[in-house]
Amino acid sequence: MTDLNAAMAETANKVNAVLQALIPRTDTPENRLYEAMRYSSMAGGKRLRPFLVVQGAALFNVAESCALRAAAAVEMVHTYSLIHDDLPAMDNADLRRGKPTCHKQYDEATAVLAGDSLLTLAFGVLSDAKTHGDPQVRCDLVAALAHAAGALGMCGGQQFDLMAEKMQLDIGAITRLQRLKTGELIAWSCEAGAILGKQPIEIRHRLQAYAHDLGLAFQIADDLLDAEGTEEQVGKSVGRDAQAGKATFVSILGIERARAQASLLADQAARHLDLFGEKAALLREVARFVVERRA
Ligand code: IPE
Ligand code: IPE
Ligand code: MG
Ligand code: MG
Ligand code: MG
Repeated sequence: MTDLNAAMAETANKVNAVLQALIPRTDTPENRLYEAMRYSSMAGGKRLRPFLVVQGAALFNVAESCALRAAAAVEMVHTYSLIHDDLPAMDNADLRRGKPTCHKQYDEATAVLAGDSLLTLAFGVLSDAKTHGDPQVRCDLVAALAHAAGALGMCGGQQFDLMAEKMQLDIGAITRLQRLKTGELIAWSCEAGAILGKQPIEIRHRLQAYAHDLGLAFQIADDLLDAEGTEEQVGKSVGRDAQAGKATFVSILGIERARAQASLLADQAARHLDLFGEKAALLREVARFVVERRA
């Protein structure tokens, strides 16, 4: 196992424990909702966003217990976005993280509510004093995540993505779509450590620049996996983008040029971290991981 794989596995284990503890468990009828939240949250997943939060926080010597709560919060928002993305009204997918999608395992109403509940729980976690002693820091985390997840971020990108099935988009428009749909949550993950560590805006800008290139590289890799991967290997429904006639980097550039572009972006992302020296070694490596991953 490489250092990166070991570090990612360690963060995944720690964030899983935090998620387990934060998702409610009762013996009341609505426990079905908590089961669905747990089912989708604990189904595996690379835990890339939590890893970015934890590594970003380590640059500024933030307490790990604080970083892990922020990491769990963004993973909750991400999991909610996947549950809703898979619904029949959106991508109508049957498989996610190697298991039946939430609405297949439970039902559509429960899947909608599980997504809603993970989203709101995430903000509850961030606003709790256990995440950071300074209320201004908690507000900054909340405001930035609200921006990244909402209409001007992920939700806006998801709407644009649905429109992309009926539109001819050029590379600039696709770049904007992907930045909103995927990039903003990744950017929050990269910046959260600097917010927790009360870093100046210039430092946050440096991490934003890294996140920008990393997020695009990540989404190009996702589009490549949709085009080339098998469901067995990727653990989610594939081939859906082409089936829906969706404009993606792959549909515009073709496989080879999309792969080259992702690789270029990964190198570029790593270079934005020069300022942080050796402390950012794993964040540099993660840029490579993002484009070379097979799931
Ligand atoms: C998939 O995200 C959805 C996109 C934003 C493209 P991930 O590839 O990070 O999914 P998991 O968390 O590992 O399942
Ligand atoms: C969805 O993008 C990204 C989200 C905001 C959930 P995709 O539709 O490409 O994600 P996958 O391929 O189903 O994971
Ligand atoms: Mg989608
Ligand atoms: Mg999808
Ligand atoms: Mg996809």
